[in-house]
Amino acid sequence: MNRLVIRAGWGLALLAGCAAAGSDAVKSDGRLAPGEAIFRKECAMCHGNNGTLGLSGAKDLTKSTLSKEEMIAVVTRGRGGMAGFGHLLTAEQINEVVDHVRTLHAAP
Ligand code: HEC
Repeated sequence: MNRLVIRAGWGLALLAGCAAAGSDAVKSDGRLAPGEAIFRKECAMCHGNNGTLGLSGAKDLTKSTLSKEEMIAVVTRGRGGMAGFGHLLTAEQINEVVDHVRTLHAAP
């Protein structure tokens, strides 16, 4: 009985933590969508969580005019000041993170 109470407490603490992070992409189970999780881990240090940070010449992703295929090519092979992620992420992960980038683009 005690163990059950403790577990429920943990679940609530985790949910509260995610809500505090204030992400609109948090799924109903409290986790980030995979593409957004990858973006925050691998891309946000230059592009920012919303794609507009532009650190060290990074393009504002909300204004990108690239097609999905072109974005996949940039993310896989890199370009200019951005190293490629083809050795770090699987094709599936690159597809997910590019889908996320395209949702930033659609945002007002
Ligand atoms: C080290 C900093 C850095 C990181 C990390 C980084 N980028 Fe970039 N990104 C850049 C820079 C700089 C450019 C501009 C490259 C150029 O001028 O050719 C760029 C350009 C891009 C473009 C092309 C935009 C356009 O319209 O031309 C896309 C798409 C992109 N990044 C997505 C990503 C994604 C997705 C990730 C994570 C998997 C990521 N970037 C991680 C620095 C970074």
